[in-house]
Amino acid sequence: MELYHRALEILPGGTQLISRRPTRFAYGVSPVYAARAEGARFWDVDGHEYIDWVSGIGAIVLGYADPVVDEAVREQICLGTMYSINHPLELELAEALCQTLPCAEMVRYAKTGGEACAMAVRIARGVTGRDKVLVCGYHGWHDWYLAANLAAESNLSTHLFPGIEPIGVPAALAGTTIPFAYGDIAALGQLLDDNRGQVAAVMMEPLRSEEPPPGYLADVARLAHEHGAVLVFDEVSTGFRYGLAGAQGYVDVTPDMAVLAKSISNGYPMAVVAGRREVMEPSARMFISSTYWSDTIGLRAALTTLAEIKRRDVPAGLWKFGARLQARLNAVAAEVGLDVHCGGLAIHPHLHFGETDDATRRKLATLFIQEMAKRGCHGYASFYLNAAQQEAELEQTAAAARETFAILARGLADRSLDDLLECDVQQEHFRRLVK
Ligand SMILES: Cc1ncc(COP(=O)(O)O)c(C=O)c1O
Repeated sequence: MELYHRALEILPGGTQLISRRPTRFAYGVSPVYAARAEGARFWDVDGHEYIDWVSGIGAIVLGYADPVVDEAVREQICLGTMYSINHPLELELAEALCQTLPCAEMVRYAKTGGEACAMAVRIARGVTGRDKVLVCGYHGWHDWYLAANLAAESNLSTHLFPGIEPIGVPAALAGTTIPFAYGDIAALGQLLDDNRGQVAAVMMEPLRSEEPPPGYLADVARLAHEHGAVLVFDEVSTGFRYGLAGAQGYVDVTPDMAVLAKSISNGYPMAVVAGRREVMEPSARMFISSTYWSDTIGLRAALTTLAEIKRRDVPAGLWKFGARLQARLNAVAAEVGLDVHCGGLAIHPHLHFGETDDATRRKLATLFIQEMAKRGCHGYASFYLNAAQQEAELEQTAAAARETFAILARGLADRSLDDLLECDVQQEHFRRLVK
């Protein structure tokens, strides 16, 4: 907390990523600054050890300091990492992605998810000659996306979180980005009709922690194509975690373009826009260019991570592990007698508190974060998996949850939640239509 107070003086907002703000956890109890991480765990600057159930906000898929990826990166460092000319790794990674990802015939690179989303939108606008973009989910911080809140400040409330003022986003962009509700195919059809001939792209997170309604994504694809729009799946937070053919393989719907980032390079900055040749090729004539997109650390890390994800069949392991985590936490909840259910897709389990009052539910979630943190488990009331989480993490987390659930049950029974909370209620976390 001492470091954080210093940071607030010199770093506007204190952190670089909103999801790393300590107010998003149990403020003053949850760890704020890490010193190092290995496998499924990190150590904070005070030397406390935590199981990390946030997996580097999703960027860690194999585990921290993975020996295979890190060795490949170390080798690359010895060869120099940035050159005045190109490096064959650019092709090798593109070829690997085209063999793996159903939509991929051509590939471009970037460094962050938001940047790659902006690139995908630029390409879709360039290819179609249209301006408008329909969105569902979170797609980064850039003007094109936050423009959604120019028309009404609540537009992104359910896709991201409420209260985002589009400060600094040109007012002239109002009406260029329009959100649509996940799962409501009629509403999407209506939006496309209302903006006939103007929509460049339908951009969405295909899923996150719930199964899409049957046939929904195939219908989205059909509608987008009927209206001449490019369908873009934002797989930044899903991607190869969900399957060896990405989230698009898991849902069995192939978009025109996909954006991947966090699941591809085990924490090293790297992002990909991959798509059909017809959509990607015209981008050769567009001004889409940056020095660091050729950085070989990201390329080498991504190529190695992809190979390791396949070799270890990481997605299969994560699905299985998530199901076991859900079963263990549900058994513990039943033992303790707390009305909470660990559900959602096994790849991204989350807790549903049975309590119906919204304010009480948020107190329960914060108290859960607080008490789990005290027992060496860092996270939200949801779980981001990585392949280094194993038996020991399952056991320690189940034991911590047993004590934590008992505290929550007591707080509910004798109405002492406020007394038990040692911090303010967690500020609203990224909330998404695609939960
Ligand atoms: C679906 C999705 N798109 C885009 C982004 C933005 O990625 P980045 O934070 O790397 O810019 C995120 C980040 O969480 C994301 O989950």
